[in-house]
Amino acid sequence: MPTNSSSSSSALQNLTASRSAGGSPNAFVLFGATGDLALRMLFPSLFFLDSEGLLPPGLTLIGAARSELDLATFVDKVKAAVTTRAGGYFDEKIWDRFSGRLRYAAVDAEVPGSFKALSALIANGDEVVFYLSTSPSLFGPICEALKAARLIHSHSRVVVEKPIGHDLASCQAINDTLAASFSEDRIFRVDHYLGKEAVQNLMSLRFANTLFEPLWNKANIEHIQITVAETVGVEGRWSYYNNYGALRDMVQNHLLQLLCLVAMEPPANLDPESVRSEKVKVLKSLRPLVGRDVEKHAVRAQYGPGVANGAAAPGYIEEGAGAATDTETFVSILAHIDNWRWAGTPIYLRTGKRLPAKMSEIVIQFRDVPHSIFPGADLMANRLIIRLQPEEEISLRIMNKTPSLNHGGMELKPLELNLSLSNAFQEQRPRRIAYERLLLEALNNNQTLFVRRDEQEAAWRWIDEIQHAWSRLSIKPTTYLAGTWGPSAAYALIERNGHSWHE
Ligand code: BG6
Repeated sequence: MPTNSSSSSSALQNLTASRSAGGSPNAFVLFGATGDLALRMLFPSLFFLDSEGLLPPGLTLIGAARSELDLATFVDKVKAAVTTRAGGYFDEKIWDRFSGRLRYAAVDAEVPGSFKALSALIANGDEVVFYLSTSPSLFGPICEALKAARLIHSHSRVVVEKPIGHDLASCQAINDTLAASFSEDRIFRVDHYLGKEAVQNLMSLRFANTLFEPLWNKANIEHIQITVAETVGVEGRWSYYNNYGALRDMVQNHLLQLLCLVAMEPPANLDPESVRSEKVKVLKSLRPLVGRDVEKHAVRAQYGPGVANGAAAPGYIEEGAGAATDTETFVSILAHIDNWRWAGTPIYLRTGKRLPAKMSEIVIQFRDVPHSIFPGADLMANRLIIRLQPEEEISLRIMNKTPSLNHGGMELKPLELNLSLSNAFQEQRPRRIAYERLLLEALNNNQTLFVRRDEQEAAWRWIDEIQHAWSRLSIKPTTYLAGTWGPSAAYALIERNGHSWHE
């Protein structure tokens, strides 16, 4: 039963408690162990988990990659990556324990028999979590090689990274490949936004407080904005990115996940199926954007030369091969959720690279007061801002009386009630890596923060329609200057309804 005492269980405990049955794994095998994600994010996250005593005592961490490395060289590589990331939080004593867990196997999924080195490191009956930090084209060969080496058992789990496909059909093909070796309750699809503290806090804000939920609907909310803005350009990732673009790279996953958490109905509990079923309902209620609607409701743009961090920055085309391409680096969309709670409430999504700030936030704009009793006062509607990055903050704009005797009447002014989560929890290590939480949940066998197959496919279905309309109608990206908030069409999109972007 909920209590008002500080001893009420935290969302963190609840999440961990809602894991499905399954023992503690003995081995964690990381394919792509010398790759960028593994070194920058995954090993440092595992190190932090170990330093907080959250890795099972007997767990071995087996790096698997194509390079023929000896263990000492591999351990040195991991140490360099962990020390860089951990900075002042690096501790030699913890490193000694952590490095004792490391093993390395040179494997090539496309060379039969090369999994012997890996088999030799896994004892018969070990419960194993396989993390595939590789191109999805290798998922099939890796799963086949694992099966041939008899390394997959009914308790084995697999964790996979985006991109899971390029459209619905390719996503389904990858999911079929995984399903041939693992049942759905053993497949953990990562969206790293779900590992961010602030994103999980969205659930506690909505469902651990009574204040907002009664107002959380079309009757009280005028519109919603979700922005994920980045200052970086595409740079070294150009060849990957050029096949994806902002719609597939960011909206299909991160922005739609944020939208689901903002718009979903309260789940019955934090169990994976309860939460994910509510998210799927939101995705299935998204009004399809088809044909000419796409012209009106979606803006597609690409950055040209401009400014980044105070210096001249090249445009997207100059960063790549120099030839023109239709890939968008900015998208804004006016979306609608056609259900009882949200019918008619505009929901604006916006994401882009080379924008003026690295910032992710959700703006809930409440409606105006129905009638003003304050003559001459400029009443501003309440607005709740949930800032996810760079700092975690929640602020609520409310109207207040200015303390003065001016004019004999009441002078009003909007003020913000601010809650800084980093200040409130100063004892916590700042800027945790989202993967810490996700790795912990995968090891604990809890799928709540991972994307279910039908959820992922419903998101692709909505995205595909936009993508198809763009190509059928030959809608090319317009250009915006690097260092600005996107093209003028993005302003027109929101201003047409009398709204404006929060910047
Ligand atoms: C990734 C995208 O999924 O998310 C990148 O592929 C993007 O293009 C990144 O830069 C943003 O993540 P974050 O955590 O920095 O907001």
